[in-house]
Amino acid sequence: ERSLLGLKDLSRHEIESILDRAMYWESQSEKRTPVLESKFVANMFFENSTRTRFSFEMAQKRLGAQVLNFAAAASSVAKGESIYDTVRTIESMGIDAGVIRLKPAGVLQHLAEHVQVPLINAGDGNNEHPTQALLDLFTMRKAFGELKGLSVSIVGDIVQSRVARSNLWALQKFGADVRFCAPASMQAPELAEHAPYVTMEEALQADVVMMLRVQLERHAEGVLKSPEQYREQYGLTEERAAKLNKNTIIMHPAPVNRNVEIDDAVVESPQSRIFPQMVNGVPIRMAVMERAMK
Ligand code: CP
Repeated sequence: ERSLLGLKDLSRHEIESILDRAMYWESQSEKRTPVLESKFVANMFFENSTRTRFSFEMAQKRLGAQVLNFAAAASSVAKGESIYDTVRTIESMGIDAGVIRLKPAGVLQHLAEHVQVPLINAGDGNNEHPTQALLDLFTMRKAFGELKGLSVSIVGDIVQSRVARSNLWALQKFGADVRFCAPASMQAPELAEHAPYVTMEEALQADVVMMLRVQLERHAEGVLKSPEQYREQYGLTEERAAKLNKNTIIMHPAPVNRNVEIDDAVVESPQSRIFPQMVNGVPIRMAVMERAMK
């Protein structure tokens, strides 16, 4: 029984075994394999989600687990109950594992120290989003065969991005070459010692161009002076996409601000892997749930 709090402290070997197991689940034609039939899992989302919440639920149900869904807005959190008391309450009812998404960074570690069941991080503040990065690595491995030596440009709102951080920590373990590209107001200075910041022109010369959503809800008002100007300087426009190497793949964790960080026509272009990333989220989360509870 194992938690998954982040990829920074997970070994390359452990990451590889999750990716391999996801490949196994992907190859299964049976939609339902009830290996977790006697297990109860709670999805505890203290922040909104579409992809992560639904693909965790799909993964859990495909493995036959009993699924309980918690949404903060409809709970006693609205009466002022803390995250800690909420999670301990749900744990007290007998769950075998919890999937959790949190707005503040730093709370997850505290919870993990006080909760007995495995916890799986579904995104905590701007810290980590390990299952997103796992599905991203899975997508890259499918496109290129291996991760070693791949050049990966992560473009956009780096400072607020847990996706950028989890990808950085994981990709570096495999010998991939990660670079960032962001306007000054969206750079994370503490990451500069781990990966260089490059120009947009340089960022586009890569095997993988991963665009990030401008997370307006996490920034002070006024960070994005004009969506048009952002698109002009940092957007993957149709013109820029047309100049990419033909083998380059385009990724984005979504949700997407169409025509801000990526043009509408590029989202479902032949080089885009944005919807395949969502497909890959299910087998990845099956592997993670199985690892947590079997
Ligand atoms: N990529 C991702 O985490 O999307 P959701 O916020 O919709 O889960």
